[in-house]
Amino acid sequence: MSSVLAYCRPGYEVDLGNEILALGTEKGLYGYPQFKANSGFVQFVFHQDADASSFVKSQPVDQTIFARQLFEVLADVDIEDKSDRIGPIISSLTELADVPSCGLLFVEHADTEAGKELAKLCKKIAVPMRQAFRKQGWLTKAEQTNLPAMHVFFTDTDRCFVGVSDSKGRSPFANGICRLKFPSQSPSRSTLKLEEALLLMLTDEQREAICRPGARAVDLGACPGGWTYQLVSREMHVEAVDNGKMADHLMATGLVDYRPEDGFRYKPQFGQVELLVCDMIEKPDRVADLMASWLCKRWTNHAIFNLKLPMKRRYETVYTAIQSVKAQLAEQKIRATINVRHLYHDRDEVTVAVIRAL
Ligand SMILES: C[S@@+](CC[C@H](N)C(=O)[O-])C[C@H]1O[C@@H](n2cnc3c(N)ncnc32)[C@H](O)[C@@H]1O
Repeated sequence: MSSVLAYCRPGYEVDLGNEILALGTEKGLYGYPQFKANSGFVQFVFHQDADASSFVKSQPVDQTIFARQLFEVLADVDIEDKSDRIGPIISSLTELADVPSCGLLFVEHADTEAGKELAKLCKKIAVPMRQAFRKQGWLTKAEQTNLPAMHVFFTDTDRCFVGVSDSKGRSPFANGICRLKFPSQSPSRSTLKLEEALLLMLTDEQREAICRPGARAVDLGACPGGWTYQLVSREMHVEAVDNGKMADHLMATGLVDYRPEDGFRYKPQFGQVELLVCDMIEKPDRVADLMASWLCKRWTNHAIFNLKLPMKRRYETVYTAIQSVKAQLAEQKIRATINVRHLYHDRDEVTVAVIRAL
């Protein structure tokens, strides 16, 4: 037996477990998820010893929907004496035949209320933990991002999982969370969802080519304008479609063409656009079909949109919606990469980026 640990938004453990089960099965790696509801993490146990390592090495975190971080578990450590947490962690690893040389050490915790308390502990213990790992020869003196990273993930003040993530597949962020500063000029916090998507789901080359000054975009369900703000701040021209009220200072940029219309009936006013974005609160299959139809009619080159999630069977719902988009694009011989992520700034929704070959 072997296992991986994956972090998620608390409340999404079932979905993350189902996703790892499906991804593992596709790779011929079989096992089962273990988790507590609202814990913010899932331990997935594989039946075979080598399978956790194979899974982590073949599954980049950014190619999953619900995982924020993913590592192979080397030890599950119970700490009896809270005056010495580092000693038992070191002892449990010295028992192993092979501890890989790591270039980074993350001391982490779940994204829960209890986790907020653990954050203080993680901060306090990180420096002495690094020193102890270096002494053992498990951690390089200077950070090396091209090597595996060691993770010490506290689930409680007296328990942690210790393990190793892959240099190419892991999230570069502590706790797998990309924190962004809210731009005070944005009329809504939703702006952070699109900012995170543009930063993490597009390559630098794609971002430069798509979000270039002067390029045209359509924003369906745009008001009060948080997503439009992201596009306008990149000097794009935006057709902002919504019956609501658009922030005045965005209108004053001269880059926004406000259209108080139904997003499901709207057609681009000036021909094909570079990017379609959509944050309408609607059934996921309806939004997915609308996005697919814009791409198939060549009304847009690329699309970034949110799919609002139901209370249950969320992984299955997203999977079905995306399969439908894929099938519609394939029928029109449109080649595109489709990436789906439950981003940190998303709530009960996932973000989908459909990017055509440049
Ligand atoms: C979550 S809010 C969008 C927030 C926006 N992305 C932002 O960053 O400020 C959803 C918006 O979708 C709009 N909406 C819902 N159904 C719509 C439809 N059929 N056509 C146009 N807009 C719609 C609502 O009026 C609402 O303003």
